[in-house]
Amino acid sequence: MSGVYEASAEFVARAHVDAAAYEKMYAASVADPEAFWREEGQRIDWIKSYTKVKDTSFEFGKVSIKWFEDGTLNVSANCIDRHMSRRANQTAIIWEPDDPKTPARHITYAELLEETSRMANVLKSLGVEKGDRVVIYLPMIPEAAYAMLACARIGAIHSIVFAGFSPDALANRINDSKAKVVITADHAPRGGKKTPLKANTDAALLHCDDHVKCLVVKHTGDQTTWIEGRDIDLKQQMAWAKPYCPYTEMGAEDPLFILYTSGSTGKPKGVVHTSGGYLVYAAMTHQITFDYHDGDVFWCTADVGWVTGHSYIIYGPLANGATTVMFEGVPTFPDAGRFWEVCAKHKVTQFYTAPTAIRSLMGLGTEWVEKHDLSSLRLLGSVGEPINPEAWNWYNTHVGKGRCPIVDTFWQTETGGHLITPLPGAIPQKPGSATKPFFGVKPVVLDPSNAQVQVAVETEGVLCIADSWPGQMRTLWGDHQRFEEAYFGQYRGYYFTGDGCRRDADGYYWITGRVDDVINVSGHRMGTAEVESALVAHPKVAESAVVGYPHDIKGQGIYAYVTLMKGVEPTSELRKELEAWVRTEIGPIAKPDLIQWAPGLPKTRSGKIMRRILRKIAENDFGSLGDTSTLADPSVVEELIANRMNRG
Ligand code: WTA
Repeated sequence: MSGVYEASAEFVARAHVDAAAYEKMYAASVADPEAFWREEGQRIDWIKSYTKVKDTSFEFGKVSIKWFEDGTLNVSANCIDRHMSRRANQTAIIWEPDDPKTPARHITYAELLEETSRMANVLKSLGVEKGDRVVIYLPMIPEAAYAMLACARIGAIHSIVFAGFSPDALANRINDSKAKVVITADHAPRGGKKTPLKANTDAALLHCDDHVKCLVVKHTGDQTTWIEGRDIDLKQQMAWAKPYCPYTEMGAEDPLFILYTSGSTGKPKGVVHTSGGYLVYAAMTHQITFDYHDGDVFWCTADVGWVTGHSYIIYGPLANGATTVMFEGVPTFPDAGRFWEVCAKHKVTQFYTAPTAIRSLMGLGTEWVEKHDLSSLRLLGSVGEPINPEAWNWYNTHVGKGRCPIVDTFWQTETGGHLITPLPGAIPQKPGSATKPFFGVKPVVLDPSNAQVQVAVETEGVLCIADSWPGQMRTLWGDHQRFEEAYFGQYRGYYFTGDGCRRDADGYYWITGRVDDVINVSGHRMGTAEVESALVAHPKVAESAVVGYPHDIKGQGIYAYVTLMKGVEPTSELRKELEAWVRTEIGPIAKPDLIQWAPGLPKTRSGKIMRRILRKIAENDFGSLGDTSTLADPSVVEELIANRMNRG
């Protein structure tokens, strides 16, 4: 087959799973999930082993997902303590700072145990108990890892808010989760610039309960305001705290973390992951998808503010006793060779990043890659959005030098770990395809017009999953009904991913992108409804509709149609003002790329905005707008086309 890439015989010989093993194990995993996961559950340490394995229902109105439910464990003990006999002096985390002139740090498992314990003891001293929520708003520094593991150690539920989010977004998450404590830092250095995290937290806390405590990591040492009685110097408290903290026995189904993510409607959804099933799945996918072996150095470039950082910087690697790289910086600082410099410096063996990063580096030339010795690399990974074949080929040729398998991993915040992905020694890759399902995952393709399951191998439609896997989310924080409606309401009996896909004649899956009102900007999920509500909160904006459009680097860009209040002049200053407004309302990642002034929006007679038309105009593809006869006023479409912003 042309356009198909297979791992070398040498890679396959060493791989955890080869082609024959994949076929056999996959068949077993879907034929008898109970038996399959009963055995796989043993990859982690249990305090009390489980007798029940799977108790799950996708039936709308009765959706319930439980795995290993009568087992007990502690996630922090699994990520640290259980490695102490063999790996106390092995590096657990390599921390690479934003500025390459600052020395990197190698944190051993023994040090990780001590630092995590100290932080856990500080949290306990503040009255944080099992089940309490702790919001983490930190840069990519070791304290972020300690904080996650310290929460897990004492049974507190962490909720990380990406450091690029605004004070408003932070306040919403603190309030929605009713957190007792927020952990932040003075500043977050990134790419030589600093984000004032403490100042943002101060602004957020104005909108929160007075009892919320603020633990501050003095990271850059810059001056910040300080509120006595509320703000606490975390490093100082850790120095005073006891160096060991016993871990708490947790039920398999006790929540481990909440992670807020964008949905197609309204406010962000608090995705809840629990302890046992999540850890089994994160550990297993980390080992098998990335073919991780003892002695490897694994680098996932994501931020811990996203699910990728949770599962593949912290929980999966550490559960496996791995060495994991944590990078504070950006790919282009101080120059466009930074990723490759770090790979060479730490002899990285598996490198996992997003297509948007590859596309932006591609444009800057191959000399940045060629400067560095990448001979340690054995495998490359991609996540967050479809990878276009050009980017795949560039990654393969210039970074992997044609000898590293590429795993294009399709998954979501909701899924905890990889759903569809090549297993590098088992499944030949086709550039742009996430290939085949992971063990236990049963993808089905449905026809969106009639919800029928497509039985033909070669087909196209929406992607659903027919049965549960251990890493699946359990509910939305405080809103189980919304959970059922969002994921199980539309296609009864199935988990709906929100993505479209194509299945080719070889049974390979090709994800075609979101079919709901979620757009994917540089691999970050953004609900168009969130951007719209930020825009209409501006006093000069009457109405707004936001859609995605193809963007060379970001994958999708944010295109906002804005109707101004009567009498307000549309000026370029106002455009800048609205961009800045969205940055402060949500964060820089939500800033519209293009704003079009829209005197009117295309609406049906019942007042529903016809987004299909707006998407077409934003895509600069207005020749085939389809049926516009149901519009209340078809002339608005002509006006929008005439003044469209994307003519590329
Ligand atoms: C998209 C990130 C194509 C998809 C782990 C999904 C992908 C959303 C891929 C989830 C991939 C993620 N190929 N599309 N390999 N990986 N996506 O929750 O649209 O931030 O629904 O999780 O990203 O984004 P999230």
